[in-house]
Amino acid sequence: MSRKQIKTELLIHDLKNPLAVVRAGIEGLISRRDFYGSLTEKQEKVLFRMLRNIRAAGLMVNDTLELARAEEGIVHKSNVVFGKMITLLLAELFDLMDTGISDCIRNCGKAEKVKKITASGRLFLQFETKIWEQSFFLDEAKTVQILRNLLGNAFKHKKKRVDFSAGMEKNHIIFSVKDDGPGIPGHYQKKIFESYYQIIPKEYGTVRGHGIGLAGVMTLLRELDGELTLNSESGKGAEFIVKIKI
Ligand SMILES: Nc1ncnc2c1ncn2[C@@H]1O[C@H](COP(=O)(O)OP(=O)(O)O)[C@@H](O)[C@H]1O
Ligand SMILES: [Mg+2]
Repeated sequence: MSRKQIKTELLIHDLKNPLAVVRAGIEGLISRRDFYGSLTEKQEKVLFRMLRNIRAAGLMVNDTLELARAEEGIVHKSNVVFGKMITLLLAELFDLMDTGISDCIRNCGKAEKVKKITASGRLFLQFETKIWEQSFFLDEAKTVQILRNLLGNAFKHKKKRVDFSAGMEKNHIIFSVKDDGPGIPGHYQKKIFESYYQIIPKEYGTVRGHGIGLAGVMTLLRELDGELTLNSESGKGAEFIVKIKI
């Protein structure tokens, strides 16, 4: 790594602290009203918007650092319990959209309950219940980041629903993220994996992109000996299938 890169990374790393302080402050104002005083409905709305955005900023910092690690070839594998990883992933995802749902996901723990809660947020999970307790040898941070980025995209583009499934195949774990949005026309299907490429620059109402994007996803996958398949047709939604060696 060059000196300049190291400096940039250090700077990004140091962003973690001020972000954490701001985040804890906002969370305190929302949850400890006995201490800080009551909030009007309008104040509460502003604080929740701030909270979603500060969480998104935190995830971007993590994504950037993890991506830099992937580029350096650093992989941290450990035994990861499937249900715990999915709980973390989905709680982080809903943090950016619906804090109520993310709190429920964090606190419920059971596979069937998580499926029910996420369905109320238009995310439909499909996996065998027994896989929830199983553990797999993989790099959790990178796997979660890949999936969070794909799910983030699916939510950004969906019409009515996102389907997320997981399963095993020999020594691979396979995830599918599918939405019912506008899909990706054939001639764009290579281009979208290039850095900073966007088909149509859109005006997004909330946070614009929460992370590393598809180019980053590919970098992470390369380090995990992973593969990505895209199935999509214009007007017919998009399905991203990820295969990771375990
Ligand atoms: N699920 C999807 N449905 C339709 N288009 C998608 C989907 N995921 C990605 N894209 C297209 O690929 C482009 C690149 O995606 P990405 O790298 O994640 O960047 P970003 O999400 O910041 O726009 C997006 O701008 C979008 O045009
Ligand atoms: Mg994206």
